Amino acid sequence: MIVLKFLISSSVTLSEDGAMVKLRQCPRRKLIPFAVACGLTSVCLALGLLSTRQSFISILEEMPRFPHAQTNGTTFMESIKRLEDGHLFVSLPSEQYFHKASPVFSPSPYPLNPLDFRFLIPAASVCGAGKSTFLLLLILSKAEDFAMRNAIRSTWLDAGEKNRWPRVNISESVRHVFLVGNTPHDKRKDVYRTLLREAMVFEDIVMMDFVDSYRNLTTKVLMGFSWALKYCKQVDVVLKVDSDTIINVPLIIELVSYVLRQKKAKPFVLGLRHLHPFPMVVRRGKWAVTEQEYPLKYFPAYLYGHTYAVTGSALDGIVDRARHLPLIAPEDAFLTGIVPKSIGIERISAPSFTTTGEISDCRLVHGEKVAFTDLREPLLLYKVWKSFILNSCNKDVFLK
Ligand SMILES: *[C@@H]1O[C@H](CO)[C@@H](O)[C@H](O)[C@H]1NC(C)=O
Ligand SMILES: *[C@@H]1O[C@H](CO)[C@@H](O)[C@H](O)[C@H]1NC(C)=O
Ligand SMILES: *[C@@H]1O[C@H](CO)[C@@H](O)[C@H](O)[C@H]1NC(C)=O
Repeated sequence: MIVLKFLISSSVTLSEDGAMVKLRQCPRRKLIPFAVACGLTSVCLALGLLSTRQSFISILEEMPRFPHAQTNGTTFMESIKRLEDGHLFVSLPSEQYFHKASPVFSPSPYPLNPLDFRFLIPAASVCGAGKSTFLLLLILSKAEDFAMRNAIRSTWLDAGEKNRWPRVNISESVRHVFLVGNTPHDKRKDVYRTLLREAMVFEDIVMMDFVDSYRNLTTKVLMGFSWALKYCKQVDVVLKVDSDTIINVPLIIELVSYVLRQKKAKPFVLGLRHLHPFPMVVRRGKWAVTEQEYPLKYFPAYLYGHTYAVTGSALDGIVDRARHLPLIAPEDAFLTGIVPKSIGIERISAPSFTTTGEISDCRLVHGEKVAFTDLREPLLLYKVWKSFILNSCNKDVFLK
């Protein structure tokens, strides 16, 4: 019998014994959210993952592979969404409007946010010592979202990291972690026990010691950047990904590589620019920002938050500047607008990045878009992934 001890704030002792009993009771089914079917035990999650993974892999291994990303007979760069002038991306100009109001963007002489929360589960081995990582995916998650994490792991993530993408040869190193915050243990003991087991099985959970809430989202992403600076030093590009988003991994690799080559060694943030030329600051409701936090009427141009890329070379500067500016809750406006504007990091918009709205999976499967969001349920994710595998899609199926 193996007894595994984990010290997490209060200490929790886990025994594999109990888990083995549950394992036998688990139903084995394909392509359904296993966490629901099995109840929330990590062994069931692992079992579910294996059988789902197996069913996808057996199809994938029979497919011919091409050195470059291919879609339905064309190469990626042929079908990818471009700007009207044919370019793949555009650098956003530094807005004149804000020059007069520069105090908002100048750092305070002393730190306002120490951003020194502990990593309760560090997942320190993800990147490995001395190994370089081309693309690090920081996937935002919540402790209780087992089913979604499993759906992500067993579809695009596994295929992207292990070179099992349908019809495509991925030679760049891709790694990931799921970022979760903390919530008082006494209330949610079962959730945390399961999370700990999941962390042991997959070694891809980073749990950080602050309250996981919408208002703390900016902190969460910044702590993800800090994690990368500490545990994944040799990373070319970090991709922030919301958990309801699917990434076309080979396509994003091609796009990001292209932008990196064009920009030489210069740091940047890359995503899809917020459609409004002067994004308004919202003063009421969930997204509210007080005048004290940010007195101006508009944000600088920023990128939509579901998916955006940040070069490894930009991380240090962003985290450091964020310590000296008042943090605001719309994480995308802060991290891809205010902070880059404040330190002079280039903001780049590419129309192949995701947006919300009515969209059919054809645009993703055929290599037009690098990401696709609003997949709120594991089942939707499995469905889109199946379209990828079969290289077919349904123009009539809209996901929103
Ligand atoms: C995939 O790419 C790598 C690196 O370019 C190459 O060594 C390998 O042979 C390729 N594999 C296939 C199946 O094309
Ligand atoms: C953010 O996290 C900190 C540290 O855990 C906590 O004190 C604070 O209440 C959280 N803020 C919100 C709005 O949840
Ligand atoms: C390939 O994808 C393009 C772009 O989405 C689409 O217009 C075209 O009909 C597809 N071709 C085939 C043969 O499916």
